[in-house]
Amino acid sequence: MTAHAALFDLDGVIVDTAVHHFAAWRETAAELGFTLADRDEELLKGVGRMDALRIVLEIGGVEVDDATAERLAAEKNARYVEAIASITPADMLPGARDCLEALRAQGVRTALGSASRNAPMILDGLGIRDLFDAVIDGSVVTEAKPHPRVFLAGAEALGVAPADCVVFEDAIAGVRAAKAGGMLAVGIGDPAVLTEADAVIPGLHAVDALASHGITFAGAPAPATEEISA
Ligand code: G6P
Ligand code: MG
Repeated sequence: MTAHAALFDLDGVIVDTAVHHFAAWRETAAELGFTLADRDEELLKGVGRMDALRIVLEIGGVEVDDATAERLAAEKNARYVEAIASITPADMLPGARDCLEALRAQGVRTALGSASRNAPMILDGLGIRDLFDAVIDGSVVTEAKPHPRVFLAGAEALGVAPADCVVFEDAIAGVRAAKAGGMLAVGIGDPAVLTEADAVIPGLHAVDALASHGITFAGAPAPATEEISA
């Protein structure tokens, strides 16, 4: 397929913030008296803040009332925000900026589709907000991935049909969201984990490898001009 729009997840695709999310949740678990295993990180990727908390509590077999849940989520977020406060363009994942710039130079439209309510702050820290035609984040859309809303809203904002969109995602929930929205899903990471993706590459630095999977990009064709008949 030839895509006219590229939709990007943020955490784990453009910037390596996943490590900070997980470190902050590990502190939550420690406070509640249990430990998160390395493999638990995958379950928390792409999942909205409160859903992630629910997963953490389930792992620990801990039940809390709503007020405590709100407090735990706020405390986790405060730790996370502190960790990413000093983010700079040097924290972008290899190839991310080049990939965005190359696609835009071809006329391909770009959108961010992230569950994170911290996305605008991160985009500003990285200085890349102007590389996106649309930014859809966790404060715009409430339905969490694997619900396709975040990507459907992105496609709509770009004026491109879902079938003409490629989504870049590092999370199982995000790949599912893309597929549920009728889009092509490119996994970023391990093919053994992202089994439902249409193709998997190790990072945006390897985006050219997609051509061998039949995935290419081109600017949206100009609207057809009506022929004037004599
Ligand atoms: C991203 C991350 C998730 C995180 C979610 C919400 O999708 O991959 O791990 O839980 O955003 O982030 P927030 O910054 O709003 O807590
Ligand atoms: Mg992600």
